[in-house]
Amino acid sequence: MDSQPFTSDTIDALAAAYPLAPRHLQHRIADHPLLQLDALAALARRLRPESIEFNAATDLPLGISNDETPYTGLDVHETIDRIESCGSWVLLKTIDQDPAYAQLMHDVLGAIEPVVEPRTGAMMRLEGFIFISSPQVVTPLHFDPDYNMLFQARGSKTMTFFPAGDKEMISDRFFEQYFNGGPRNLPWQEEWAERGQPITVTPGEAIYVPILGPHWVKVHDEVSVSLSLTWRSEWSFHHADACRFNSRLRKLGLRPSSPQLYPADNRLKSYSQRALVRAERMMGRG
Ligand SMILES: [Fe+2]
Repeated sequence: MDSQPFTSDTIDALAAAYPLAPRHLQHRIADHPLLQLDALAALARRLRPESIEFNAATDLPLGISNDETPYTGLDVHETIDRIESCGSWVLLKTIDQDPAYAQLMHDVLGAIEPVVEPRTGAMMRLEGFIFISSPQVVTPLHFDPDYNMLFQARGSKTMTFFPAGDKEMISDRFFEQYFNGGPRNLPWQEEWAERGQPITVTPGEAIYVPILGPHWVKVHDEVSVSLSLTWRSEWSFHHADACRFNSRLRKLGLRPSSPQLYPADNRLKSYSQRALVRAERMMGRG
C-alpha cells in the first residue's frame, strides 16, 4: 500500500476504546481499487460459491431469525449488477483467499497490531469480508464472535450498538447455543431501542465493532460498500469454550456462573471443555 491506512490520531482513538467499546475512526483506503464495485464484481466471480451469501434485505423486521431470510430469485452476479435497485445484501466471505485482498488485509491489520496485541494478545484467525448493500438495507440485530474493523468505502450506514454484557438482550443460553452451532440473529424488543449507541460511517470512516456486542445496521439512501476485517484472540477462544462447557453443566441440571467478561478470562472452564472434547474423541476412536 502507498500510504498508511490510518493517521496516528486514529490509532490513539482505537487504543482508547479497544477491546470493549465501539469507536468511530478515520481511514485512508476508501479509494483503494480493490474496494470499487467493478473489482468486487470480478472478485465474486473468482470466489468459491460457499464464500458468497446474498438475500433480499429491505423492510426486514429487526428481530428476524436466520431461517426466515427472504430471497429475490437473482443470482449473485445479477444482484451485484442491479444492487442500486434490487433491495439486496451481498456478503463476500474470506476474501483473503484472494492474494490481493489478503495483502490489503495484512497491511491494514498490521497497522493496528501495536494497539491490539498488548491487550488481547496475538491476532489470530484473520479474515476479510465485503458487504455490498442496496439503499435502505437492514442487517437485523445480531452479534459476532470476532473483533471487527469495518471500513466504509462507498455510501453510508448507521450501526447501532448495545453492550455485550446486557443479559436481557443476549442471555448466557443464547451464547451457549451459538457456540454449539446455533444462529446469531437475536430477538428484538422495541423498548431496547433507547439503549442503543448509533455510529454513522461515510467513505473514509471506519468503526471498531467490539466482539460479542449486539448491533444492527441500516444502510442510508445510496449503495453501500464496506470492508470488514476480523480477528480472534486467545481470550475469545477461551470464552467460546467456556460457553460450551456451561451448556454441558446446564444439561446436567446445574446453573453455571456466567462466563467472565474481558479483562477477566475463562481459562479454567475452557481447559475443562477442551479436555472433555479430547476424551470424547479418544473414546470415539477406541
Ligand atoms: Fe455484525
